[in-house]
Amino acid sequence: MQSGGRFDYYSGLYADRTYSMMSSEIRELLAVTARPDIISLAGGLPCTEVMPVGMLTELAERVFREDGPGAMQYGPTDGYAPLKRSLCMVMEEEGLRAYPEEIIITHGSQQALDMLSKILLNPGDPVIVEAPSYVGALNSFMSYQPEMFTVGMDGDGMLLGELESVLLRLRRSGKRAKFLYTVPNFQNPAGITLSAERRMGLIELSREHDLMLIEDNPYGLLRYEGEPLPTLKSLDPQRVVYLGTLSKIFSAGLRIGWAFAPPPLLEKLLLAKQSADLCTSALTQRIAHAYFQTQDWRATVARLAEVYRRRRDVMLESLEEFFPEEASWTRPGGGFFVWVTLPPYLDTKSMLARSVESKVAYVPGTGFYPGGRGAHEMRLNFSYPDEEEIREGVKRLSKVIRREISLARSLGLDIAGDEGSVTSGGG
Ligand SMILES: Cc1ncc(COP(=O)(O)O)c(C=O)c1O
Repeated sequence: MQSGGRFDYYSGLYADRTYSMMSSEIRELLAVTARPDIISLAGGLPCTEVMPVGMLTELAERVFREDGPGAMQYGPTDGYAPLKRSLCMVMEEEGLRAYPEEIIITHGSQQALDMLSKILLNPGDPVIVEAPSYVGALNSFMSYQPEMFTVGMDGDGMLLGELESVLLRLRRSGKRAKFLYTVPNFQNPAGITLSAERRMGLIELSREHDLMLIEDNPYGLLRYEGEPLPTLKSLDPQRVVYLGTLSKIFSAGLRIGWAFAPPPLLEKLLLAKQSADLCTSALTQRIAHAYFQTQDWRATVARLAEVYRRRRDVMLESLEEFFPEEASWTRPGGGFFVWVTLPPYLDTKSMLARSVESKVAYVPGTGFYPGGRGAHEMRLNFSYPDEEEIREGVKRLSKVIRREISLARSLGLDIAGDEGSVTSGGG
C-alpha cells in the first residue's frame, strides 16, 4: 500500500475511518507557497501585525508572576473559570447571553468540531453541510464516516428550498440528520452571510424536522459593513450548539475555542474532552484571561477589522480591474475570504501548478465540497497578504486565468453550460 508516494508497512493496521480522512494532495502543492517569492492568497491565516509582541510578553510574564504554579498545572476539563466569564462577555458582544457553566473551552473550535463528530456520528449517519463548506469541519465529520448531504447557497446564504428537499428526502427514507453545520457569518470559504430572513426560515425548518444545528462563528466580530445579525443560538438555544474561537480576534497560536451547548450535550463533550486531552492548556487560558483583564480588546478587534476591511477592498478592486469578465466572485461583508467562480471548462486544481509557476497561489474549490464538485472554483484569502501583495497576486492570477481561457478556447473546450454558482456578479 502506498502512502504519500511511499510504501506503507503499517497499511494492515489502520481503522476503516482512517481511509475516509482526506488526502493531502493539494496541501503538498500548497506547501511550496511558503516560499518568499510566491504570493499566497491560499492560506487562511490571521494578520499578526496588529498584536504587539511586547504586550504578549507582558501578559505571559504577568501570568507566571501571579499564578505560575496554576499555569504549569492540569486544570478543569471544562476550562479555566475566569476565562469562561471573559468568553461569555465576547459572546455578549454579538447579543448572545451565556453563563460560564454552559460552555466548555477547547483547543480551538476545531477540537470542538472533532469532539461533536465523535459524540454524535455513527458510520452512515446523515450530516448536512453548506456547499461549499469549511474544509476543517468536513475533514472532522468525514473521519467518522457519515453520509454527507449538501445544500447550495446564493448571496443570502443557504437555499432553504434545497434544505427542505434534503430533509423531506431523509424523512421519506426513515432517516434523521444528526445535525446541520453552518458558518452563518462571512463563511469560510465563500465569504457569504446568512440573511436575517433566512436565519428565521432555517430555525423554522429545523423545528419542523427536529434538526440540530451547529453554528460555527469565528468571524462574526470581523464585520466591515452593515449591522450584526442575531445568532442562530439566540433564536433557538436548545436546538443550536454554538462554537466560538479567539483565533481570529486575538491569537490563533493560543488555541482557545469554546462550545456553548445544551446541558446534556455539554456533559458528553466533557467526556470526549477528557479522553482527548484532559484539559485545555492552563497556560494559554491564563494568558487569554490576562488579555481580557488588562487590554481594550474591543479596540483591538476594531483595529483588526479596519486592516482587514482595507485588504478586502483592495482585493475586490483588483478583481474588478484585472480578472476576465468570464469570472465572478462574492463580495464578503467581513471575514477573510472571497470565493471565485471561473468558467465551467476550467480546472482550478490542475491550474494551481501553473499558477505557482507564476508565483501566486490559491486554494482550488474541490476540497470544500464533500462530493468533489467545485472544480472551476477557488478560494482567495485577503487577511494575511498585505495590500500590495493582494493587488500583485490578483494581477498575476488574472494572467494565469486568461491564458487558461484562451487555451481552452483554442481547444474548443468552452462550449459546456454553467452548472450554477454561489457567486454574485461578474468582473
Ligand atoms: C469556519 C471555521 N471554523 C473553525 C476554524 C478553526 O479555528 P480554531 O483556530 O478555533 O480551531 C476555522 C479556522 O480557520 C474556520 O474558518
